[in-house]
Amino acid sequence: MDAVNRSIGIDFRLWPFDIKLSKAWAMALWNAGVLSLDESKAIEAGLDKVGARLAAGETPIDSDEDIHTMIDRLLHEEAGAAASKLHTGRSRNDQVATASRMWAIDACARLDAAIREVQSVLLVQAEGLQEALLPAYTHMQRAIPVSGAHWMLSHFWPLGRDRQRLAAAAGSASTLPLGSGAIAGCAFPISRTLLKDTLGFTALSRNSIDAVADRDFVAEVVFACSMMATHMSKLAEDLILYGSSEFGFVKFGDGYSTGSSMMPQKRNPDALEIARGSAGRLMGDLVSVLGTLKGLPSGYNKDLQDDKRAMFGAVDTMLLVLPAVAGAVEELTFDTARMRGAVSSAMMATDLADYLVEQGISFREAHKAVGALVRECEATGLELHALPRTAFAAAHRAFGDDVYEALSPERSLARREVEGGTGPNAVRAQIEQARSALAPATEGRGNDQAPLVR
Ligand code: ARG
Repeated sequence: MDAVNRSIGIDFRLWPFDIKLSKAWAMALWNAGVLSLDESKAIEAGLDKVGARLAAGETPIDSDEDIHTMIDRLLHEEAGAAASKLHTGRSRNDQVATASRMWAIDACARLDAAIREVQSVLLVQAEGLQEALLPAYTHMQRAIPVSGAHWMLSHFWPLGRDRQRLAAAAGSASTLPLGSGAIAGCAFPISRTLLKDTLGFTALSRNSIDAVADRDFVAEVVFACSMMATHMSKLAEDLILYGSSEFGFVKFGDGYSTGSSMMPQKRNPDALEIARGSAGRLMGDLVSVLGTLKGLPSGYNKDLQDDKRAMFGAVDTMLLVLPAVAGAVEELTFDTARMRGAVSSAMMATDLADYLVEQGISFREAHKAVGALVRECEATGLELHALPRTAFAAAHRAFGDDVYEALSPERSLARREVEGGTGPNAVRAQIEQARSALAPATEGRGNDQAPLVR
C-alpha cells in the first residue's frame, strides 16, 4: 500500500508553496480565534525552519507519504505541540489543490519567459532574412515565393498565442480553493478573502465540492504545453527539412547539433529532433489528464494525485525544449543563394494569371491560358520564363511584351502588400508588430506579468 500510495517522489517540489500556504493558514486560524497569537507565531516560525531545512536538502523518510505529511512531521520537530493545531479546519484536499495552483501559476510565468526567448531569436533571424526569398510550399510542393523573414515569422505568431494560453491557464489557476476543507467547507470562521490576498490569488472558489476536485487548470496548463510543443515540433520539422542537403537552405550550428559515432560527415540536428519527439509525449500527458478526470465522481478522489505527474512532466519538458530550440535557432545560418535558387518561374504562374486579370480577362479564362503554358513547359522541359514570346501569344492574345516582368519573384512579392502578406512593406510592418509583441507590458496583467507567486 505504501508503495502504491506514496507520491512524495513527485510532489516534493510543492514544498515552497505548501510552506507559504500553511503560514497563511496559521494566520487565518489566529484571525478566526482558533489559535492564540503565540501558537500562530510558533507555527509560522516553525514553518520557516522547516523551509530552511528543505532548502538545505532535507530528504524524506519512509513514512512520508507526500510532501504535506512530510512538512507536518518536520513541523512537529520544529514547533512542538502547537504544530498539532495547524491542520484544524483544513484537509490535504484543499491543501494540495492550493499548492498545485500556486506551482502552476509560477510555472506559467517561467514558461512565458522561455517562449519569449524563442520568439526573440526568431525575430532576430527574421530581421536578417528580409532580403531573402524562398519558395513557400503548399502540399510540400513549391507554391509562391515569399520573403525569408515572412517564413521565419510564421513561427513567431503561434508562440504569441501560446503565451495567451499560458496567461489564461494561470488565470484559471488563480482561484483559491483553500478553506474548502475536505469537501464541505471549513467549519471555523476563517477569512478566505484574507487568505486570497495573502497568497496572491485573484478569486475565491464558489463551491467547496467543485473546489477540491477542480483540475481544469491542470488540463489547461498541459494543453498550453502540448500546443507549444506542437509549435516547436513544426518549427523543428521545417528546419530539419530545410537543413537537408536536398534543400540546403539552412546550416545548423555546432552548439545544438551532434556528430555521428560512425559517419564523420554528419551534423545532426538533435535538439530539434528532441523537440519534435517531445510533442508526442506531451500529447500523451494531455490525454492522461483528461482520461483521469472524465470518470470521477464529485469531490476529491485519489486518482487526482496523478495530475501532478502529468503537469510537472509537461512543464519540465518544455523548460528543457524551449531553451534548446532557442539555442538551435540562434546559431542557424542561411544560404540565401540556395533559397533564391529554389524559386522557379513556374511559381509565378498565379502572377501570370493575375497579369491577364489586370488586362480585364476573367480569372477563369486566365487560369486556363496559364495552364496551357504550364503544360507546354512540362512537354518541352523549359521553365516559364524560357518560353518564347510566341508561346505566350498563342496561349492568350492579351499577353504583351512585358509578360516576362510578371515572372519576376521580386515583383510577385511586391504585389502582396496586403496586411499579413509577404510584400516588403507588409513584412517591415510585421517585424514592427513582432517587436511590440515582445516589448514588456507596461500596465495590467499582460503576458509579461510577474509571477503571481514566487
Ligand atoms: N498526495 C495527495 C494528492 O496529491 C494529497 C491529497 C490527499 N488527500 C487525501 N484525502 N488522501 O492528491
